[in-house]
Amino acid sequence: MPSSHDHPPEVLDVPLELDPADWDPQQVYFLLTGLVIPRPIAWVSTVDREGTPNVAPHSYFNLVAHDPPHVMFSSSGVKDTLRNLRTTGEFVINLVSIDLVEEMNATAADLPPDIDEFAWVGLDTAPSVTVTPPRVAGAKAHLECRVAHELEVGNGHLVVGEVTHLHVDPGAWAGGRVDPALLDPVCRLAGTSYASLGEVFELPRPSWAEVAHAPPAGRVPRR
Ligand SMILES: Cc1cc2nc3c(=O)[nH]c(=O)nc-3n(C[C@H](O)[C@H](O)[C@H](O)COP(=O)(O)O)c2cc1C
Repeated sequence: MPSSHDHPPEVLDVPLELDPADWDPQQVYFLLTGLVIPRPIAWVSTVDREGTPNVAPHSYFNLVAHDPPHVMFSSSGVKDTLRNLRTTGEFVINLVSIDLVEEMNATAADLPPDIDEFAWVGLDTAPSVTVTPPRVAGAKAHLECRVAHELEVGNGHLVVGEVTHLHVDPGAWAGGRVDPALLDPVCRLAGTSYASLGEVFELPRPSWAEVAHAPPAGRVPRR
C-alpha cells in the first residue's frame, strides 16, 4: 500500500498510512515518540575510565525480565553513556520523579565528555552498593546494573543490563508496595512534552473460570 502522505500533514483528514521509508527519519522519530507514550525515563549514571561521572536521560527504556531482573535502554547513536559502558560495563538507572524533571533535562545538554554532569547541574551523589557509578541522591528509586548485552538495532544501541541491586526510598512506599502517586514519575511524550500520572485505577485481570459465565469486572478507583 502506498503511503498516504509524503510528509506530516498539518491537518489529517484521512487516515495516515505510512511506509516509514517514505519520510525523513526525524519525521518518523516525532511520529513514533508521539505514539509510544507515556515512556518512563532511565536517568543513566556511568563513569568514564578516569572515574568522572556522567548522567543522561533515556526514554527508550523498559523492563526485559524479572528473574533475574533485566532492564533495557537504547542509545540513538554512540554517546558518552554508551562509551562509558563499553569501558566499565556498569550503570545505575535513577528513576525520575517530577521534582527532578528540570535537573534531568539539564543533563540532556550535549556537554563535553570530561564534564562531571552531577557537579555541573548541582546534583548530590549517593554511593552505589554493587557498581562504581554514583546514584542521584534525590531520586526515589535506583537500579544498579551490569551490562549483559549490547545489540545494534537500526540507529539504536540497545543495552540490556542485569539489575544487581535496587534501592527504594521510604517516601515512595505505602501499603506494602511502591505507591505510583508517591513515586510521581515523569512521563515522556514527544519532543519537549512531558506529563505526570493522571488518575490511577484498578482493573482486575480476568480468569476464564471467573468470566466464562459473567462479564469481567470493570474499573474501580485505586484503594
Ligand atoms: C527526556 C529525555 C529522554 C531522552 N531519551 C533518549 C534516549 O532514549 N536515547 C538517546 O540516545 N538519547 C535520549 N535523550 C537525549 C540524551 O539524553 C542526550 O543526547 C544526552 O546528551 C546524552 O548524554 P551522554 O552523551 O552523556 O550520554 C533523551 C533526552 C531527554 C531530555
